[in-house]
Amino acid sequence: MKFFIDTANLDQIKEAQELGILDGVTTNPSLMAKEGIKGTEAILQHYKNICEIVDGDISAEVLSVDFEGMVREGEELAALHENIVVKIPMVKDGIKALKYFSDKGIKTNCTLIFSPGQALLAAKAGATYVSPFLGRLDDISVDSLKLIEDIRLIFDNYMFETEILAASIRNPMHIINCAKIGADVITSPLASILALLAHPLTDNGLATFVADAKKLA
Ligand code: G3P
Repeated sequence: MKFFIDTANLDQIKEAQELGILDGVTTNPSLMAKEGIKGTEAILQHYKNICEIVDGDISAEVLSVDFEGMVREGEELAALHENIVVKIPMVKDGIKALKYFSDKGIKTNCTLIFSPGQALLAAKAGATYVSPFLGRLDDISVDSLKLIEDIRLIFDNYMFETEILAASIRNPMHIINCAKIGADVITSPLASILALLAHPLTDNGLATFVADAKKLA
């Protein structure tokens, strides 16, 4: 399973990269706004900065919601670096844009996936990744893991190459459950990735080993 970090914060991206387990980065307009990035030039420069830190797929989201706008922005984003993946929202024009970029050999990530039918359409259009949002479904009492299971079954039935990129991860259990179901990728805030490290018995055991190590000196 690939690990992506879901942030536009360069310090957190560097920290995850230094762990040695990072395969890519996903961003969205909300995450970019959180970092105070404003204007086309600053946005494009920020993506270039991310590409310099991480050698893996970097999802950069278009801001337009019409086909022409998505194509114009997507081409500009894709020209920035070979690792840029054009992130496109799940709307009718988005499906057309996915097909357009797929035909041109440009990688895409279809975002805001909340149903198996949406994932199926995106895969048919040739999306490289689909991003089902777990946390936002759980927020409205819908079983997000069932969605991942359904998409996994559909993609496996027809051997779609589109990868399931589980997004809106809110806790380490989301990551474990996605790994059990067989999501290809999780994109997570740094905190949930680091939470995988934690176990009180590890902390206690290490404290004992450190104390006993002193007796060996
Ligand atoms: O990348 C989009 C997704 O991960 C958003 O997460 O926490 O805003 O639902 P969240």
